[in-house]
Amino acid sequence: MNRSRANIEMKILGISAHYHDSAAALICDGVPVCAVQEERLSRRKNDAAFPAAAIEWCLDHAGLSPDDLDAVVFYERSMLKFERILNSALRAFPKSWRSFPHAMKNSLGEKVWVRGIIASHLGIPRRKILFTRHHQSHAAAAFLTAPSRRAAILTADGVGEWATLTVGHGERPANGRASISLLREIRFPHSLGMLYSTFTAYLGFAVNEGEYKVMGLAAHGRPTQVDRVRRLIRRTADGAFALDMDYFEYQSSASRSYSSRFVQLFGPPRNAYEPIDLDTAEGQRFADCAASVQRVLEDTLVDMTRALHRETGLPDLCLGGGVALNGVANARILAESGFERVFVPPAPGDAGCALGAALYADRIYFGQPDRDVQDHPFWGPSVNSKDLLRAAGEDGQNVEELADPQLIDRAADELHAGSVVGWMEGACEFGPRALGHRSILAAPHSSEMRDRINRDIKYREEFRPFAPVTNAESADRYFELPPGGARLGRFMSGVFPVRPEWRKRLAAITHVNGTARVQVLEREMAPRLSALLDAYGRRTGIPVLLHTSFNVAGEPIVCSALEGYSTFRRCGIDMLVATPVVVTKRGPSIAKSVKEEATA
Ligand SMILES: [Fe+2]
Repeated sequence: MNRSRANIEMKILGISAHYHDSAAALICDGVPVCAVQEERLSRRKNDAAFPAAAIEWCLDHAGLSPDDLDAVVFYERSMLKFERILNSALRAFPKSWRSFPHAMKNSLGEKVWVRGIIASHLGIPRRKILFTRHHQSHAAAAFLTAPSRRAAILTADGVGEWATLTVGHGERPANGRASISLLREIRFPHSLGMLYSTFTAYLGFAVNEGEYKVMGLAAHGRPTQVDRVRRLIRRTADGAFALDMDYFEYQSSASRSYSSRFVQLFGPPRNAYEPIDLDTAEGQRFADCAASVQRVLEDTLVDMTRALHRETGLPDLCLGGGVALNGVANARILAESGFERVFVPPAPGDAGCALGAALYADRIYFGQPDRDVQDHPFWGPSVNSKDLLRAAGEDGQNVEELADPQLIDRAADELHAGSVVGWMEGACEFGPRALGHRSILAAPHSSEMRDRINRDIKYREEFRPFAPVTNAESADRYFELPPGGARLGRFMSGVFPVRPEWRKRLAAITHVNGTARVQVLEREMAPRLSALLDAYGRRTGIPVLLHTSFNVAGEPIVCSALEGYSTFRRCGIDMLVATPVVVTKRGPSIAKSVKEEATA
């Protein structure tokens, strides 16, 4: 591949696949055009398959054929990853005999032969296929999309090829070439992400999906087990850490992440099929475990980012990797590391690596001039309101088409009356969180509303909080945002205290420890939702809404209007909006019994 193609318009497709959350992203002339996770199209949550549908949609959306692509970039070096898997399996032999066939099957079948799979799938020459390192992709997704010219970078996840955490810095000089220097890395099996995932498994949640449940549960516990967790992770003199692998088995087993010694230390693991009862000693033990590993994760990240701040002397930090989804840790990093601003992209996890890999190839490998990347998460398929109009009409529901001001007033009235609103708008979010385009909205005032949404719509554990959304100019009034907090709140990447005087009137979104993972909405990012917040504020005096992703448990966030409609029909959502179409259910609404007390 010719590396000296500067200033030529290039079309680069980035792909992440075969672990979890496959995705594709397309950049043309240095600017992202579109990006989508495979799960949004295949409708299989956390779909890890080769993202055939995502690739097809990206190419269709941009009007390109595979031949038009200058490069296709895979988000990690599959041969290195295979080497790590093989190495770990052999080193642990004979203990590893069970995981070995599993590793071979996964790796030989897909991970290693990625170049061939991509070439044959797209019908492009193998020379057009490039590979970035996994953490280069994370770093690029975090730094090259951030509104910062120079920043320190920290990436942390479970594991890529070998690296599990990297530190470095990046530069995007005006009119110059961007650079990313990852200076040091921590290698498998020593991994903050795997430490957290091990507790995720121990606490009976699905690894790679249930980590945010651990964070939610942590707020119900006390960090009484910190000393025990610290036996698992030792800080090293050079500022890194090492795990005591006697407590873990993930390094040699595909099915079990913690060892019998771990169980001796912390007690029997939770049965995933039994609900957590926080009123029992056993339930509290699990909450304390969650609080303890959460505390150790935070402390470790704060120490490492503090050292990185001292080393780089830079005011900005970009965080990437799945660990950057931990909003409690992010808020502590902002408060305690010395960095003035902390940037977390909307998709810091592996899906975001598709975009990161494409950007890395464009800026670093091909040396194309740097470009500012639009600072929003809306890169996916757009909602088609005509589909909703037709489906809801044929189904005999109440359907209206309303001009914007009427539509917003109507939705605000419904929310004020206690209805739950499904809100679809424009392009789907890229990343795990709904940020205003595929959202379920409701009044944030009463715990009854929280329980109702848990019971009728999300079908999820009661210990998990819902998040609020509010306009940037109102955020300080309701939430204790430190300097830089609003930026973390842009993509819901930070957890902050709800001001004590508002907690009672924001009961549906205030977590048990008085915090909330607030989205701080800048008007230009989602103008209609912003206008809806204003309209709701005019009715209640509180321009804050409960805001959760538009999906039911076990399903991906809805993408198309029809998926939104199907979800609306199957659960307790009262009103569905895809501008200019508004659908309400025929028959008595179950919402009306819920009256909020915002103005009380
Ligand atoms: Fe990763």
